[in-house]
Amino acid sequence: MKRQIYAFKIEFQALNFKLRFLLLLLFFFVLESNGQNPFFKASELSQTWVYYYPEHWPENQWERDFKNMAGLGFEAVHMGEFAWAQLEPEEGRYHFEWLDRAIDLADKYQLKVILCTSTATPPVWMSRKYPEILIKHENGNHSDHGARQHASFSSPKYRELALRTIEELAKRYGSDTRVIGWQLDNEPSVQYDYNQAAAAEFRIFLQNKYQTIDKLNQAWGTAFWSQLYTSFDQINIPLMKQQFMNHHQILDYMRFAAQQTASFLDMQSRCLKKHIIVQQFVTTNYIPNYEEGHIGLCKELDFHSYTRYMVFGENKGLGRKGFRVGEPLRIALANDFFRPIDNLYGVMELQPGQVNWGSVNSQPLPGAVRLWLWSVFSGGSRFVCTYRYRQPLYGTEQYHYGIVGTDGLNLSSGGKEFCTYMEELELLRKQYDRPRGELDYLSKAAILYNHENAWSIRNQKQNQHWNTEKHILSYYSALKSFGSKVDVITESADFEHYPLIIAPAYQLIDDELVERWKKYVEAGGHLVLTCRTGHKNRNGSLFEAKFGEKINELSGTEMLFYDLLPPEAADSVCMGTKSYAWYTWGEVFEPAPGTEVWAHYRGDFYSGKAAVVHKKHGKGSVTYVGVDSRDAELEKAVLIKLYERLGLSRLDLPPGVIVEYRDNFGIATNYSDKNYEFPLPARSEILIGEKELKTAGVLIWKQKK
Ligand code: GAL
Repeated sequence: MKRQIYAFKIEFQALNFKLRFLLLLLFFFVLESNGQNPFFKASELSQTWVYYYPEHWPENQWERDFKNMAGLGFEAVHMGEFAWAQLEPEEGRYHFEWLDRAIDLADKYQLKVILCTSTATPPVWMSRKYPEILIKHENGNHSDHGARQHASFSSPKYRELALRTIEELAKRYGSDTRVIGWQLDNEPSVQYDYNQAAAAEFRIFLQNKYQTIDKLNQAWGTAFWSQLYTSFDQINIPLMKQQFMNHHQILDYMRFAAQQTASFLDMQSRCLKKHIIVQQFVTTNYIPNYEEGHIGLCKELDFHSYTRYMVFGENKGLGRKGFRVGEPLRIALANDFFRPIDNLYGVMELQPGQVNWGSVNSQPLPGAVRLWLWSVFSGGSRFVCTYRYRQPLYGTEQYHYGIVGTDGLNLSSGGKEFCTYMEELELLRKQYDRPRGELDYLSKAAILYNHENAWSIRNQKQNQHWNTEKHILSYYSALKSFGSKVDVITESADFEHYPLIIAPAYQLIDDELVERWKKYVEAGGHLVLTCRTGHKNRNGSLFEAKFGEKINELSGTEMLFYDLLPPEAADSVCMGTKSYAWYTWGEVFEPAPGTEVWAHYRGDFYSGKAAVVHKKHGKGSVTYVGVDSRDAELEKAVLIKLYERLGLSRLDLPPGVIVEYRDNFGIATNYSDKNYEFPLPARSEILIGEKELKTAGVLIWKQKK
């Protein structure tokens, strides 16, 4: 079989480019029209995988471990992630035999394999022979060997050495059908790297973008404080900790840094794809950091996946013991952010129990691991993988739980919950049948997101208490409490797919976007814009017009001014009979004739002036919410009013209860500390759980025919 595939691959590669392209299009079209993708079978719903580091354990334990993993129900094993030193112990001398043996043993127990490019952990010979590969920090220090992620994505030498090893791996395993896919690097994020190579690349990036130094000077407003440049060579990577550093420059640097990470990954993917069979996927495991902007930039990944940790001291959750369950919407938001990128996603790491790196590494609540697993599943994920099979006996992560404990044999509490999940999943697989769409969401909405707005706001907050993520979550959590489907989209999406779009704090705009918004509402779309929207152009400069004027026509108002309050002097906004506290940001409007005022300010010298307005446009409408409320209650009330106005159905789920639909299953999860009786639709057949959702409870049902 392996050889046949290889022969097919050779013939396929011999075909001319156009024919190959057409065949591939046909292949993907057939899969797509079946509702499938080339990597995962729809009827499997979601696969469950596990991390294993054979290089950490005596070889005589490998077979026992693989046998046990398979016996527990895991379907694939993830290996080779941090093993560069073992794969290439000396420059150019490769040692793959141990990995061959591990793959043979995994296969013996029907475990498929995911391989990695171990670029997060370069071997010591590299750092010593080529110190130019090391990241340089803002304070002038370099990273050193002895931890991980210390190499610069901008270093040409590092890229060259990485590619050489990746190519060897791809040649060796690229046509091996036991290997189902590849993970690039590990949690690649944006590097704040002051390495010489990074600075040189930054200058090239700027030169390509602006062509002439005059244009750069204009875009960065360098006339201010005598910051003028006379040549691109004079430009350095901006120091983030130096007070008052030019924020237009920082904006461009962030764009550059995000692109560097994406281009490093794309380069790896292109290298792999020269050798691997089409059935092997290429992905990477991103931390869902929405502000850094590199996620979604890669052009060469088959799909995006993410990693998720819920209990590590920072997430309070709901109620006194909420910290043991984590923030209710952390997984939901990651699902809704990652899924729309390629319409296919998975979760590469999910916490199996206590971790070692948090501020307070508590035990998760019994049942929480299973709750997270079903939350991942409910968003439409095609796989979930757990970090990691065995708890390590040495190294940085000694106190990190695995599926089995320090003896390598006994299941941890999280391990047991993974097993319960895998058994329950089997039950769902038996129930899988399409007709699609029988059981579905009551409504659908999108959040329009561009990380550049968050960067720009971060550089000029005006109120230290402003929090962009919290602001976006106010709207997101309201939509989720309505039981609405939410996609987080970018400007590259087709707005017309969504009856309702919310663009929160969308600070950077251009005329083209305003035109798209106008067309969208004229054609029947309903747009919600919120405070801080449209103040600046894409370089981060204010417009030479009245403040906020670019969106006056859309909002049907004129912005008079904005105000910011200290928290102890919070004021209120009235909508109907209720009032809502605010202090972080309030825009004060004069409505034009024909614009409805939905809420007004109270308590200060602009008492009675408009804070929330609504205006019909063609077949659609614009709602402008000029204020950021303290408890997210105003945002929810505005959306309730809008839903009523539009005749959209909604649920009224309490905080912490989430409902999602996939593959004709309804899935409700409870992150709150209170029980909740879920309002099941008529003719529902409960498959897992009970109508009475307990804390950390999961309820799954299907519509009866
Ligand atoms: C992740 C990382 C893994 C591992 C894990 C421990 O952030 O990707 O490699 O270190 O944390 O919880």
